[in-house]
Amino acid sequence: MNLRAFHAALLLALVPPAFAADKPPIDAGPYVPSLTSVVSDMLTLAEVGPKDFVIDLGSGDGRIVLTAAKVFGARGFGVEIKSDLVRESNEAAKQQGVADRVKFMTQDLFKTDISQATVLTMYLLPKTVNMLKDKLLNELRPGARIISHDYGFTDWQSEKTLSMDLEDKVAISGVTTTLIFLYKVPARVAGNWTAKVPAAISKEPVPIRLSAHMVTRVRGTLRVGGKDVPVDDGAMHGESIEFQSSIGGKTYKFTGLVKAGNIEGSVEVAGVKAPWTAALAK
Ligand SMILES: C[S@@+](CC[C@H](N)C(=O)[O-])C[C@H]1O[C@@H](n2cnc3c(N)ncnc32)[C@H](O)[C@@H]1O
Repeated sequence: MNLRAFHAALLLALVPPAFAADKPPIDAGPYVPSLTSVVSDMLTLAEVGPKDFVIDLGSGDGRIVLTAAKVFGARGFGVEIKSDLVRESNEAAKQQGVADRVKFMTQDLFKTDISQATVLTMYLLPKTVNMLKDKLLNELRPGARIISHDYGFTDWQSEKTLSMDLEDKVAISGVTTTLIFLYKVPARVAGNWTAKVPAAISKEPVPIRLSAHMVTRVRGTLRVGGKDVPVDDGAMHGESIEFQSSIGGKTYKFTGLVKAGNIEGSVEVAGVKAPWTAALAK
């Protein structure tokens, strides 16, 4: 073995086995536990309950997933690169009697399958939060809630943001300000739809073109009576869509649930509601 091959072999031997085959994981943030009151506020904002599966990316000592199980009745797991914290978390799960519902793994959060989560939590660096955006949108199901402590996405408007001042935060981030962002993964609406609408709008099926921008904002047109009418104030809130359109001098407010390429909802004008449906072109 020449000297270069010997050095390469030596380097490989020094890499921990869990990450030996790959580059070392990106450091998504230092270990700084969320304050217990913040953990509780994060899970409350997400409305976590017994039907939920909570995944914490970079789980530290496991407090978010442990609290989700013990106090809110959820199941879930946490992933963390520091194996001593993972051991501590699994030990705490046993001691708190929730080891049948939660587990912790030494794993790179960027390579973790998160598709099972109905609620995903994170307290990570701002750059990391934004790096994760596409992964979250691609892997999480529509309607899944995302809770981020202190740092939000730059181009995705939150459903809700809690802001509070906590004295204990000064030692952590140098300021009292604490933010908790709630996002909901939107159903996909971009594409060409054919809608059945109240006869007052059109007796014929109405072609609708929709596109999404800034993740949850919806733009598009309805083709009514041979004319394109703009979709105004369009937005997704998880699986719910809302927009309005001015047709024949009246403003119609459309709302609906988007599921598997179908929309079912109601359209309201002057306080009167009527049903509408739409199907996505195959
Ligand atoms: C700010 S702490 C948050 C801990 C916990 N989620 C909480 O809120 O109390 C971020 C954690 O992410 C972990 N971490 C950083 N990069 C990671 C990676 N690539 N994969 C898994 N965990 C990572 C750190 O070791 C640290 O424990």
